[in-house]
Amino acid sequence: MQTRLNDTSASKAVVILVAAGSGERLAAGVPKAFAPLCGESLLAHALRGIFGCAEVGHVIIVSPLSHVEHCRDVAGGTNGTDGGKPRVDVVTGGATRTASVQAGLRALLPDDAIVLVHDVARCLAPPELFARVIGAVRTGEAAVVPGLPVTDTVKVVNAEGRVVQTPDRESLYAIQTPQGFRREVLEHAHASGASATDDAALVERTGGQVRVVAGDPMAMKITVPVDMLMAAALLKDGLHVR
Ligand code: CTP
Ligand code: MG
Repeated sequence: MQTRLNDTSASKAVVILVAAGSGERLAAGVPKAFAPLCGESLLAHALRGIFGCAEVGHVIIVSPLSHVEHCRDVAGGTNGTDGGKPRVDVVTGGATRTASVQAGLRALLPDDAIVLVHDVARCLAPPELFARVIGAVRTGEAAVVPGLPVTDTVKVVNAEGRVVQTPDRESLYAIQTPQGFRREVLEHAHASGASATDDAALVERTGGQVRVVAGDPMAMKITVPVDMLMAAALLKDGLHVR
């Protein structure tokens, strides 16, 4: 008989929303989560996308130490599409993204069996993307990432600036968040103590299988100032680009 912890077929998901970065490259004068985009913070936009997915039952916001109350206020002032919203907890993050995810893992509740990790920097990720990732974990996948086929030609370049390889573009995908996991798979991956720019990489390194599902252009990552212009355009006209 399966334990409740492992029963992912029907349970709702928890989203660990990592928002503790400083946003140095965006240089907005505030941590990236609190930078304004069309009048609202990236955090507010991100929460609206998450709250819009009925399959999410719990959200853990990982905040900069200085902004915990601010996160609570933003969460309190943001509603889902039908007015309802999941339980929201706020914890403080660490010095790296990986450490911030681990702070979120420590705040999981006993019933949290499906865990999604999402970057506040991808604040326009729509509810359907969360639902797609959760659906794939429910069908039995251990780890699920959204991805879009790469349209640029990508080259591997060495320290001297010389191209050493041009991988076949057919097999290249740009990977987004939210990334979804069976809880024990993500905890095991992080127990290795290694660091990575995404959580799926830790699962790969610990021998786990990672499934790719269709990503969404709206889940673009805001990193540098020009990305804000792109995000503002998507926010106004997003449905036409999918
Ligand atoms: N993040 C985090 N804790 C950290 C570093 C990053 O929670 N110590 C989060 C960011 O808030 C972001 C995501 O991880 O949502 C991806 O990181 P990135 O885009 O690099 O954001 P920042 O680290 O804030 O930006 P920068 O690297 O330019 O300072
Ligand atoms: Mg960073």
